[in-house]
This record gives sequence, C-alpha cells and structure tokens, in this order.
Amino acid sequence: MLSSLLSYAKPLQLDLSSVNMNQVVQDVREAVSAELKSDSCRLMFVNDLGDKPFVADAEQLRMALTNLVLNAAQASPPESEIVLNAKVDDAHIGNIEISVSDRGRGVPNDLKDKIFKPFFTTRKIGTGLGLANVKKIIELHGGEIEVRSDEGKGAVFTIVLPMEGIES
Ligand SMILES: Nc1ncnc2c1ncn2[C@@H]1O[C@H](COP(=O)(O)OP(=O)(O)OP(=O)(O)O)[C@@H](O)[C@H]1O
Ligand SMILES: [Mg+2]
Repeated sequence: MLSSLLSYAKPLQLDLSSVNMNQVVQDVREAVSAELKSDSCRLMFVNDLGDKPFVADAEQLRMALTNLVLNAAQASPPESEIVLNAKVDDAHIGNIEISVSDRGRGVPNDLKDKIFKPFFTTRKIGTGLGLANVKKIIELHGGEIEVRSDEGKGAVFTIVLPMEGIES
C-alpha cells in the first residue's frame, strides 16, 4: 500500500534508454512468478517485436506491465492463461502496442473509466493505485492505455507507446 501510494504521489522522471522487450518480459516474469503460482495462472509472451529496440524507461515499464499482469491474475479463474503481446502498431506509425489479455471476469462498461482513477478498487485489500500508476507511467512516455472487455469474457489492456520515446 505504502509503496504504491508513494510512487503515485512522487513526481516521476523517466530514465529513458534503448529497451528490448524480451528483457522487460523476463523481469516481469520474475516479479509476478509467486503470484501466478498461487493463482495457478500461466503467462504467455508473444513477442512480435523480436529484438527491435525502442526507447522507454525500462524500470517504469516493467512496473506498469507487472501491475497489469497481477490485475489479470487476480481477476482470472485458476488454471487460466494470461497473454502479453508486443508488436509494431500498424494503425499508428512509429508506435508499438503492448497488450495484456486475460479470460477473467472482465470490466463492466460503467467501470471502464473509473478503474484508472486513484483509489478505485473492488478488492478487499486493494489500494486502487495500480492502474492509476500504470496510466501515469504510460502518459509520461507520451503513450496511451485503454481497456476493452466483454463482461464475463475477460479483459484486454492495450498500451500504445511511441518507439522513439516521448512525442512532444
Ligand atoms: N484484468 C482485470 N479484469 C477485471 N477487472 C480488473 C482488471 N484489472 C483491474 N480491474 C479492476 O480495476 C480495479 C482497479 O485496479 P487497480 O490495479 O488500480 O487497483 P487494485 O488492483 O484494486 O489494487 P492494487 O493494485 O493496489 O492491488 C480493480 O479493483 C478491479 O476491479
Ligand atoms: Mg492492481
């Protein structure tokens, strides 16, 4: 609770470098492995970027993706699969798209905006700062995040990030 509150309150400065998605995902896997084991979920990684580098704050991006995967695991039934996909964004030239998909309970339409607000949570022990932090990190990168979901059929969180770093 305290650490997510502090990271939400703290003015964030990005430490940009050339990032390789394979490395980011390896770090995410380590960060979520205990939780995935206890929820018995599997994390699949589909990397259509290969080794193509892009500019980002690797540590902040790792935190953002870790939050999304943990949320996915918490919303999913046991034995289900979470997919993390990274690819070049065909719709927006110069951008990459990273998505986290789950087969969990989904996000009801009337909550799709609220879940990104600080302190909104439906979990007994949640802080509601996870997605607020993710959104803050992605927007600082000049990117965007959105959720698509059919209630009961899972959720897909999609991040679009400029490959060359911040667009201004
Ligand atoms: N993949 C998902 N499927 C269904 N609902 C989700 C998903 N991700 C987030 N949510 C909803 O959004 C709410 C806010 O998420 P957020 O990560 O900000 O906080 P939290 O997970 O409740 O708490 P914390 O991240 O501090 O543990 C969750 O409580 C949950 O209701
Ligand atoms: Mg969370």
